[in-house]
Amino acid sequence: MPRPVAEQVVVIVGASTGIGRATAMAFAAKGARVVCASRGTLALETLAQQIRRDGGDALPVPTDVADAAAVRSLALAAQQHYGRIDTWVNTAAVGVWGRIEDITDEEFDRVMRVNFLGHVHGVHAALPALRRAGGTLIGISSAEGVRAVPLQAPYAASKFAVRAFYDSLRMELAQDGVPVTVTTILPASMDTPFFEHARSKLGTMVKPPPPVYRPEVVAASIVYASTHPRREIPVGGSAVVFLIGQRLCPALFDALLSVRHLGVRGQRTDRPDDGLDNVDRPMDGTGRVRGRHPGWVLRHSAFTRLVGRRRRPGELLTAAVRDLHRRRSPGETLTAAIRDLRQRRDLRRRPRRRPGELLTGAILSLRRRSRPSTPSSVLPSVLPSVQPSVQPSVQPSVQPSVQPSVQPSPQPSVQPSPQPSVQPSAQPSPEPIAGVR
Ligand SMILES: NC(=O)c1ccc[n+]([C@@H]2O[C@H](COP(=O)([O-])OP(=O)(O)OC[C@H]3O[C@@H](n4cnc5c(N)ncnc54)[C@H](OP(=O)(O)O)[C@@H]3O)[C@@H](O)[C@H]2O)c1
Repeated sequence: MPRPVAEQVVVIVGASTGIGRATAMAFAAKGARVVCASRGTLALETLAQQIRRDGGDALPVPTDVADAAAVRSLALAAQQHYGRIDTWVNTAAVGVWGRIEDITDEEFDRVMRVNFLGHVHGVHAALPALRRAGGTLIGISSAEGVRAVPLQAPYAASKFAVRAFYDSLRMELAQDGVPVTVTTILPASMDTPFFEHARSKLGTMVKPPPPVYRPEVVAASIVYASTHPRREIPVGGSAVVFLIGQRLCPALFDALLSVRHLGVRGQRTDRPDDGLDNVDRPMDGTGRVRGRHPGWVLRHSAFTRLVGRRRRPGELLTAAVRDLHRRRSPGETLTAAIRDLRQRRDLRRRPRRRPGELLTGAILSLRRRSRPSTPSSVLPSVLPSVQPSVQPSVQPSVQPSVQPSVQPSPQPSVQPSPQPSVQPSAQPSPEPIAGVR
């Protein structure tokens, strides 16, 4: 069970603006200690100051997610400062808008490096700490990780990759029985500075296609996921339209988005592009949560609260599989079942005597019977003569068969002293026989 939010240490990668910033503030408002990371130092500093002013606890750590070593240092800094990590949120991303022929190889490379490899670096850095004490990984993909749209090929490809990455991770962790949960968030359009930060090759500034929501709606779902692990949470009603539409009729979606008005005009503004973006380096500034979307912005998503956060039936099965693996691997379960069966069978079966054992038993019995009752004082001298002849060749397999047949008759006459000297050689025999079987 995840800790209550107020007791958590949360790392948010991509915290300087937009959804990440709103998430850091939402966690801090509920009492979590937050580690805020991104490249823009001033924006991070103002965020930490604002959180502290409001009575919270925040640690700003400037980090570029494209640099794996820097992300590992971030994880170390979080653990050194707060002692552990409970929830790790990967939200950093950049965008390049344009037709595929107009976007360079370097731009594709950069978007994948930040939007996809950034998540890989985050998971690699966080997992050792999360594996130790349990915790939650939350990755922000997008409704575009389910359904691609025109003019955002690198971004959509990175979001598909992120979604697949977390699917693989979720299964691997369940196989290990590790108490680490993985939630993928699929937001629809949010009013954040993302569209001002994006690189546009369209000649105009870009905008989110409607309907557009406030970034706090996503932040609330991320905080929710930190204590209520879910496989995926679509945020915003349009995200579910993407999910269902893509599953039922992807070709119809292709056709609709091929219409210029819907597929292109919905994403560009009338304002000329300002030539500024955060693809290679952070934007200057103190950081903001909200963007400047001129149209209608929805404050809530009833759909997300009522439907999007619901646990799917299959999720219960994944949890059951993880619990099963935590107790015993399937291999161990099988081996244990076979061992159980064998033990029960062994208990039912009496040890079977080999023909040679019967013969040896008979000889021993005859020899003992033919011997006159011996006073206890003489026995030490008698026994050595019996034992060497029997023991070396017979000991492992003969003894159990010897015991029942030999003991009843000679022992009453021999009792006081032979018992201690005969017993030790007879006792260990049942085990070798069980082993032979
Ligand atoms: N806005 C939407 O409509 C929408 C919809 C669906 C999904 N999303 C997803 O939501 C997440 C947050 O987006 P947003 O809308 O809040 O955008 P945003 O305001 O532009 O925030 C992006 C954050 O990522 C950080 N970042 C970018 N490159 C980085 C790098 N190399 N290393 C470290 N941090 C880096 C930025 O900080 P620095 O530049 O200071 O480093 C910033 O804090 C993204 O994953 C995005 O894909 C957004």
